[in-house]
Amino acid sequence: MARVLVTGGTGYIGSHTVVELISAGYDVVIVDNLSNSDAEVLNGIEQIIGKRPPFEKVDCNDYAGMEQVFNKYDDICAVIHFAASKAVGESVEKPLMYYRNNIGSLITLLELMKEHGVVNIVFSSSCTVYGQPDILPVDENAPIKPALSPYGNTKQINEEIIRDTAHSDASLHATLLRYFNPIGAHPSALIGELPNGVPQNLLPFVTQTAAGIRKELKVFGDDYDTPDGSCIRDYINVIDLAKAHVVAVRRMLEKKSLEQVEVFNLGTGRGLSVLEILRTFIKVTGVNVPYQIVGRREGDIEKVWANPDKANNVLGWKAQETVEDTLLSAWRWQQRLMNKV
Ligand code: NAD
Ligand code: WQD
Repeated sequence: MARVLVTGGTGYIGSHTVVELISAGYDVVIVDNLSNSDAEVLNGIEQIIGKRPPFEKVDCNDYAGMEQVFNKYDDICAVIHFAASKAVGESVEKPLMYYRNNIGSLITLLELMKEHGVVNIVFSSSCTVYGQPDILPVDENAPIKPALSPYGNTKQINEEIIRDTAHSDASLHATLLRYFNPIGAHPSALIGELPNGVPQNLLPFVTQTAAGIRKELKVFGDDYDTPDGSCIRDYINVIDLAKAHVVAVRRMLEKKSLEQVEVFNLGTGRGLSVLEILRTFIKVTGVNVPYQIVGRREGDIEKVWANPDKANNVLGWKAQETVEDTLLSAWRWQQRLMNKV
């Protein structure tokens, strides 16, 4: 069976994607430097699928190390490139680390793919490339706006690097998946989101507040031009997101791509506000989440949600999970983390 190289595969989205790839019959090899995840994730994956995926602790910027991976696994037919640093705030403080890590790792990967005749790549992009869209819901033709952070800029630059490389090499096929806001955890609660330190993202902060780890949730602003004043996002279940990667890999392997580089927005098409997420979480879990409305967070955009028609109709993928079940899965994962301590 075809083997997929999953960089960043012990990370949040990568680990869930590894489960779906193996469940779909693909072989995988995970490459991760464990800079933002733990090898313990491999135990969770093994418990879910009944076998332990091959894992190589390598930095994607390490050309020699990565070359050894390509030499060792000579049946790699596609790469899913999750590996990156992804904290927006940190990228403002440490831009050079972000440019080196996120751009350097992609360049190393593309060079080795060329060396080893691997012609299919799925790239983890982000709706952040759209900034605050002029038209909502946002589709793939929306203009790319000036990045609001070095992190967002690395996504825009990496998309261009992939396009330029494809233009120079007709054999290369790429699928750029622009994720909206991934949330939730595997229903087994054996894998999930493992934020380092104080969570920056909404959901892990909500679950940690519900668990009593955090005193209260700060809601960053309720004076936006939205129905309840809080920001709106398109929250997508991480398993739905993982399944989209399996569909994207299969599409390229079956040579069904319509263009060398295809772009898809991976969202539900449903915008939910911060306060709606909060209210729904409290409703489905029965757990209170103390919160306080505070000032806006710098850099936040007001509202964004996807037009998922192209992913639904061309890629052949559609988000299935309800936000209620997704929030419950995040809570179950948080509870398991508590019990493990
Ligand atoms: P994550 O931090 O959980 O996973 C990233 C993984 O990559 C980690 O396991 C980390 O150890 C690894 N890594 C980082 N740099 C590496 C390197 N140089 N070599 C090898 N491994 C390296 O993040 P995630 O949420 O799973 O995100 C995965 C991808 O999706 C990232 O590219 C991110 O930018 C993108 N993305 C995430 C979100 C989100 O909200 N989580 C949204 C849009 C896009
Ligand atoms: C969602 C909403 C906050 C925390 C970020 C990155 C994006 C992507 C996904 C990597 C916003 C509000 C949050 C809190 C809050 N990451 N919030 N209190 O900002 O949409 O996207 O993560 O690619 O690039 O920008 O996600 O979860 O941080 O915030 O009120 O403690 O929740 O203001 O409106 P965001 P988020």
